[in-house]
Amino acid sequence: MNPDVAWPVWSRERAQRVESALEGALPAADESPQSLHAAMRYAALGGGKRVRALLAYASGELGGADAGLVDHAAIAVELIHAYSLVHDDLPCMDDDVLRRGKPTCHVAYGEAVALLAGDALQTLAFEVLAKAPLSQAQAQIAMLAEAAGSHGMAGGQALDLAHVEDALSLNELERMHALKTGALIHAAVRLGAACGRALDQAQSDALDRYAAAVGLGFQIVDDVLDVEGTAHSLGKTAGKDAAQGKATYVSLLGLDAAKIRVAELRDEAHTALLAFGAGARRLNELADWIALRKN
Ligand code: IPE
Ligand code: IPE
Ligand code: MG
Ligand code: MG
Ligand code: MG
Repeated sequence: MNPDVAWPVWSRERAQRVESALEGALPAADESPQSLHAAMRYAALGGGKRVRALLAYASGELGGADAGLVDHAAIAVELIHAYSLVHDDLPCMDDDVLRRGKPTCHVAYGEAVALLAGDALQTLAFEVLAKAPLSQAQAQIAMLAEAAGSHGMAGGQALDLAHVEDALSLNELERMHALKTGALIHAAVRLGAACGRALDQAQSDALDRYAAAVGLGFQIVDDVLDVEGTAHSLGKTAGKDAAQGKATYVSLLGLDAAKIRVAELRDEAHTALLAFGAGARRLNELADWIALRKN
């Protein structure tokens, strides 16, 4: 892969790369139990922006990592993400019928199979990481587990459900967003970086600041798009946060303030990357894309 290609080419190549890596990591659809394997493939393949995988590849490039090594991290974060979407869409959570332009996993396969597909996608993520030739695999697995668990994504999802029709303070809302979405994005950045040259403490702190800024920014944009997007542009139901009384940036501060916060976080992300120079090109481009995306 040519390292100097323009952003659209770079991002498309990496998205295709993780798609075929996922294809290889997932069980074949005709392997028994077929409905479970078909549901796992349905949820994980053929859709999604692959933001978390792109972040892993981009932070891998920061330390000159071989993309073949970063593949494991990219697959693992996308599998955790796919599982989170399957469960997020279940009737007991957001009760959604459309995801990535298709019927949600439980609509297509039934609730029980969708629940199990989410479970199995999650365990497959850890299997992939555990079998990867990473120098500090144990630390990477622990990092992903923390990011996905009750002090990370699952915890954030619990707060999201607990605060329906609640007026959260800005701090509480940011904590919820940092957990439900930021934690996995942070793990994607750290797992990718761990495949490359070691960072010094100042660089490591700067990368954490970058990840926190893009993680929060990503969820605020998701909240904005829920208001401004359409089912066609998003591939998922629009307007559901307001309909379900969800606490979002928009419900708390309004659209204009939410957009201003996205711009501030984009600036914070770029500022954090000043510690790196040219090696951070793709991370800078990702910060822009995350802030400006329309789906
Ligand atoms: C949607 O994530 C759920 C959130 C955490 C906001 P994405 O917007 O990354 O979903 P896909 O992977 O592109 O479908
Ligand atoms: C989902 O947030 C976050 C996770 C899946 C962890 P949302 O509920 O806002 O995501 P969408 O809007 O359904 O994609
Ligand atoms: Mg949700
Ligand atoms: Mg949802
Ligand atoms: Mg949303």
